[in-house]
Amino acid sequence: MMRSTAAAALVAVVLAVAVAAEASELKVGYYDKSCRGVENVVKWHVIKAIKADRKVGAALVRLIFHDCFVRGCDASVLLDGPDSEKTAPINIGLAAFELLDEIKEAVEDRCPGVVSCSDILIYAARDAASAMSNGHVYFDAPAGRLDGMVSRAADAQADLPDSTFTIEQLIENFKRKNFTIEEMVILSGAHAIGGGHCSSFRARLTAPQEQILPAYRGLLAGKCGAGPDPIVVNNIRDEDPKAIAASVPSFLPKVRKIEFLDNSYYHNNLARIVTFNSDWQLLTEKEARGHVHEYADNGTLWDEDFSDSLLKLSKLPLPKGSKGEIRKKCRYVNHHY
Ligand code: HEM
Repeated sequence: MMRSTAAAALVAVVLAVAVAAEASELKVGYYDKSCRGVENVVKWHVIKAIKADRKVGAALVRLIFHDCFVRGCDASVLLDGPDSEKTAPINIGLAAFELLDEIKEAVEDRCPGVVSCSDILIYAARDAASAMSNGHVYFDAPAGRLDGMVSRAADAQADLPDSTFTIEQLIENFKRKNFTIEEMVILSGAHAIGGGHCSSFRARLTAPQEQILPAYRGLLAGKCGAGPDPIVVNNIRDEDPKAIAASVPSFLPKVRKIEFLDNSYYHNNLARIVTFNSDWQLLTEKEARGHVHEYADNGTLWDEDFSDSLLKLSKLPLPKGSKGEIRKKCRYVNHHY
């Protein structure tokens, strides 16, 4: 009796380990047999949405970061709930949730119960980065992730970097997730697209001129005075040409590129024309500053390295021992039904 109980326990342990191991083994083409064509379905919806409004592309690129840095890439950021991650102040402005609902519905119609929300999010963010860069940013995304069952605002607050952080705090934050200073600088280049609320850079409006170009500070102050907490574009290039001509004429683009994902963030940063304190902080540390120069000088290198860093981000695992599932709807865990 004792022996069979012990044997059963051993089998249970082996099975548990097998499930955990299986869940962590990501594979390119994971759904080739179980849901053929799923990557095309995701891509079709993402491209359609970006054609209608490029802002959704920026939202998806931000989502991969905000999902993966908190409890791994488990779509915990997509869960609704009174105290879920998306309610955290650090997650201000997150968007594209409706698009992901739409994609999940289309994928469920095709192959019910097979594709996780976390894989859909990674495919969608990858396709968004690619579309926003005209294909210069790209990687084959391995899949096979499970959706998490836990989503807590406090975890998001604890794990995501704040725009008021010093360079030391930023370095420490990325190091905790096993990202180097170089990778932090590479990933920050995502701020070439999208925007931010004035409340996310309020202190920059009174920062000294060593930290922010006074003409740009004036432009931001004017924009922020227009409402309680308006959103301002991250990249000066995306401003109204008249506003650029009046504030920083040298930054009037020769070819008009709107919401385009490239290395322009590094040029802006060196000119002190970036919104967030955390962007400027990259110039205050030798190694980080060196990489800002490196990527300002070499756009092709940034495209490649950004693709690699997004891929690395997409592999951040669930916390050890946590359970996963394939959600029916991305906003709720299944036992909700
Ligand atoms: C280095 C630390 C980072 C800090 C402190 C930071 C902070 C912020 C803040 C405060 C906003 C504006 C939120 C708002 O007010 O609405 C923002 C926007 C954004 N961030 Fe970051 N971020 C960081 C790194 C990243 C990374 C690693 C990525 C992606 C790889 C990313 C992608 C984006 C994008 C695309 C937007 C614009 C989103 C939109 O327009 O919908 N950020 N970030």
